[in-house]
Amino acid sequence: MEKGKGNTLDGPAIQRIRNDFPIFKKVINGQSLVYFDNGATVQKPLQVIQAIENYYYQSNANIHRGVHTLSREATELYETARNTVAAHFNVANPQQCVFTSGTTEGINLIAGGLSKAILRSGDEIILTAYEHHSNILPWQLHAQERGLKLKVIPLKSDQSLDIAAAMTLFTDRTKVLAVAHVSNTLGLITDLQALFKIAQQYNVITVVDGAQSSPHMPVNLPELDPDFFVCSAHKMYGPTGIGLLYMKEKWLTELPLFKTGGGTIKTVTFEHTEYAEGALRFEPGTPHISGAVGFAAAIDYMNSIDMSAIYKHESELVRYAQTRLLELPEVEVYGQSEHKAGVISFNVKGAHPFDVGTLLDKYGIAVRTGHHCTQPLMQLLGVQGTVRASFAIYNTLEEVEYFIEKLKRVITLVS
Ligand code: ALA
Repeated sequence: MEKGKGNTLDGPAIQRIRNDFPIFKKVINGQSLVYFDNGATVQKPLQVIQAIENYYYQSNANIHRGVHTLSREATELYETARNTVAAHFNVANPQQCVFTSGTTEGINLIAGGLSKAILRSGDEIILTAYEHHSNILPWQLHAQERGLKLKVIPLKSDQSLDIAAAMTLFTDRTKVLAVAHVSNTLGLITDLQALFKIAQQYNVITVVDGAQSSPHMPVNLPELDPDFFVCSAHKMYGPTGIGLLYMKEKWLTELPLFKTGGGTIKTVTFEHTEYAEGALRFEPGTPHISGAVGFAAAIDYMNSIDMSAIYKHESELVRYAQTRLLELPEVEVYGQSEHKAGVISFNVKGAHPFDVGTLLDKYGIAVRTGHHCTQPLMQLLGVQGTVRASFAIYNTLEEVEYFIEKLKRVITLVS
């Protein structure tokens, strides 16, 4: 993959990237596919599809328990994938990188583990007003069972996080801060540094939902320094059903188990189990081996382009789309700050987002419509849902132009 000059991608470089994605040969409603639903899931390049195919053609076996050649080969691929994921996030010890089925499972393991033994009745968990349901429900479930209290950082009138208000929420009972790195609905980037500064003063455990940051920007975990970080491969050009749960080294032994079974142990009697050390302790059952292989191939793919170049390209798309949308008086854009990653949310005034999405689909444009699993945010915005355009590395300014042109037609139909 060739980069453009100075960490930017020029038109021909993007075209070469598009050629890696077989889905773009597909015709939707007689039109070329314009895929702006990348926040939900990203399309897969041939490099990832082939890595998964090769695994099943050449190396399929169960891992960690076999002495035969294929099993050793599959184990090697699985553990090499872990090393690739760790290196991508600059984590020195790959054992701190647990494979999960995705972001949602990661948060469930953290919330379930912490509430089992570490959190006490009356303890507080701080979330933001723009959290995805996946970073609300697991905490809410355990809060109800264990008498924990959820507190919510409010948003300012421009929908950015109210950091000053956040400061007033922390008390000696605050035990967890669980926040989205990037809002999946608004695309806004959370000021983790400012929040972590307060969290540190109160000795609070920090959990970062990286589902929407990991596809769009470089993430250096030791530099960010959360206790936990979770993300999903399928939003990072990898397969569905696999994700990362990163934890600080101490949690490898201190996080209570919320889920267990075969593969996590050293010895078992009916009275007692001695658990394995490291990531395996949290990976019961046969894992998603081909998923791990595909996840690693996806990471290699992103790094062959360069995460900073990806961020730069997608930021330009967001900036351009936002400028063009703001020119339309019939459109309301939410979260207008330019400090965003890959996502833009809007409504055509007076029109239902489903109608706008359905009409855009007639032109081959795939956007997401609805509450985006952020109903509390929708309540704050006073809307049922929004239309969300979310970008990936293969999207172009020409596609944004086409989308704006077709949106103008849609506006005449729905107004
Ligand atoms: N969490 C995914 C989204 O934001 C599904 O669309």
